[in-house]
Amino acid sequence: MELKTVKIERADGIATITLNRPEKKNAMSPQLHREMKQVLTEMRDERDLRVIVLTGSGDSFCAGQDLKEFFAETYGKPEESSKVTRTAMEWSELLRLNDKPTIAKVNGWCFGGGMRVMGLCDIAIASDKAVFGLSEINFGIFPAGGALKVPIELLSHRDALYLALTGERLSAAEAEKIRLINRAVPHDKLDAEVTALAKKLIEKNPVALMLTKKVFWRDKFMQYTEAVDWELANFAVISEMTGGEWVKEGITQFL
Ligand code: ACO
Repeated sequence: MELKTVKIERADGIATITLNRPEKKNAMSPQLHREMKQVLTEMRDERDLRVIVLTGSGDSFCAGQDLKEFFAETYGKPEESSKVTRTAMEWSELLRLNDKPTIAKVNGWCFGGGMRVMGLCDIAIASDKAVFGLSEINFGIFPAGGALKVPIELLSHRDALYLALTGERLSAAEAEKIRLINRAVPHDKLDAEVTALAKKLIEKNPVALMLTKKVFWRDKFMQYTEAVDWELANFAVISEMTGGEWVKEGITQFL
């Protein structure tokens, strides 16, 4: 499928995926969902890719679901609507559970479903010009498909409910304060900050990064005893997958 709504750049082990509908503030249309699924499926097996950066064209990261093409035009067409929703959820899982670290480079507007996508990335660095919001309530709906679950997981009970119930906008500084993002940086430094972070991640052992994420996502929903067992079980896997590299190189070098 020729890509029309998503742009890809690959350089030095970093893949940058750009949501590319700037004229619609990168709102997620059915076509964009199909293209994202294709792109992330292809990247899953690319061993040379070490870090994925997700960003948006123009002055927007993502204005959420396309209110016209995703909602209005599929309303009353249950088959079409469930198909596009399934595609959206499928690529969201490819993003969340990706073997490689993912960074949301939030360059501007970030609303509704866009906030969900940002939250599914492992790390989020935002321009000081970025603006966030769970705006669903302003359209008479509520955040769904993970758009409520993601802030519940990331934020405090009070902040998640406040944002969902009011639909208020949040500046990058406020988003940083409530830890919706890791940090806000001056707009003109965003590219450099994200590239430096990606390079830092590339220096780590990719198997260790992959296992950290795999273990993290199960740990998060486990009781302590089960989590300890799960961590130790996966610790054995790291020796097998890396041929004991962590002992031979990592620890020996330190010693
Ligand atoms: N769905 C469809 N089209 C959109 C969306 C969207 N979510 N967001 C913006 N657009 C379109 C506008 O309709 C407009 O199209 P047009 O030029 O054909 O009229 C174009 O993008 C530019 O938008 P403007 O509103 O003119 O741009 P402005 O810079 O004034 O505002 C902003 C940008 C703040 C992002 C505004 O467009 C906005 O509030 N959009 C809605 C964001 C939102 O609340 N999303 C959550 C949706 S609910 C969900 O995701 C589940």
